[in-house]
Amino acid sequence: MTRTVYVNGKYLPENEATVSIFDRGFLFADGVYEVTSVLDGKLIDFDGHAKRLARSLGELGMRNPIETEDLLEVHRELVRANNIVEGLIYLQITRGAAADRDFAYPSDDTPPTLVLFTQNKPGLADSPMAKVGIKVISIEDQRWARRDIKTVQLLYPSMGKMMAKAAGCDDAWMVEDGAVTEGTSNNAYIVKGGKIITRHLSNDILHGITRAAVLRFAREAQMEVEERAFTVAEAQDADEAFFTSASAFVMPVVELDGAAIGTGAPGPVATRLREIYLDESRKVAI
Ligand code: PDD
Repeated sequence: MTRTVYVNGKYLPENEATVSIFDRGFLFADGVYEVTSVLDGKLIDFDGHAKRLARSLGELGMRNPIETEDLLEVHRELVRANNIVEGLIYLQITRGAAADRDFAYPSDDTPPTLVLFTQNKPGLADSPMAKVGIKVISIEDQRWARRDIKTVQLLYPSMGKMMAKAAGCDDAWMVEDGAVTEGTSNNAYIVKGGKIITRHLSNDILHGITRAAVLRFAREAQMEVEERAFTVAEAQDADEAFFTSASAFVMPVVELDGAAIGTGAPGPVATRLREIYLDESRKVAI
C-alpha cells in the first residue's frame, strides 16, 4: 500500500514526495526529528514531542516552519489517511536547501524542509519482545557532546545497533567515563532494591519524553527514583534493567554483555511500569 506522506505543506503519495539534493539534512545532517507513537489511532505525548522539537530547533538557531496546532493537524491527518491504529509518526525539519553546498548556514529566508511520514506497527503495544526482554551489549559512546538536541546525525547509533546484532543482541548501551549514558535510541534504567536508577538529565543524553512520563508515573505509584549515572558492572548486578522510548515504551533488558540481569527474565518493576505507562498514556492520548 502506498503511504500518504507530508512534505512542505503537501500531502503526497510516498513515491511522489521529493527533497532537493542540496538539502542540508542530506549534506550536513543539519536537521532535527521527533518520533511520536500512535495507540488506538491517537497520539501519545504529542505536547512533549512538540516542546522538545521547539527546543532542538532553538538550540540550533533553526526556524520552526509550523505552528503547534497545525503540526497536530498534520499528525492527525496522516493517522487518518494511512489508517494507523498502532504505529509511529516520524517528523523531520532541516535547515532547508541552500543554492550550493556550503558549511556556512544559508540566509535566514531559506525555507526549512518539513517532512512527516507514518510507520504502521500493528501490535506495537502488545510486543512479544516485552514479554521476554531484550539483550544489550555495552559500547563506547562516540557521539558528539550535544545529545540533548534530537538531531538526525544517527550514524554512530546505527553502528551501535549493528555491533549489537553482530554480537547476537538487540541493542547497545553506550558508556562514557565508565558510566552508561543511554541506549542507541532509548533511555537506560536499572532497578536495585526496589529503587529505579536512571542517568540524570544533562547534555550527555536525550531528554526522553517517555522517560519524563515514566518517572512521573513511578513517583505517583510511590516507587523510589534516583537520577544518577550507573556503571555496566552495577547494571549487571542489578535486580532488573529496562529502557524507554516512544517506539518501545518500557522494554525490559535481561542481559548485558552476556551476563543475565536479575533472573534473566523481565522483572516486576519494568513489567508494572510498562502497564502503567500504556494505561495512563492511552487515557490522555489526543
Ligand atoms: N529515539 N535517547 C535517544 C538517543 C533516542 O534516540 C531516543 C528516542 C530516546 C528516547 O526518547 P523518547 O522517549 O522521547 O522517544 C532516548 C527515537 C524513538 C528514534 O530515534 O526512533
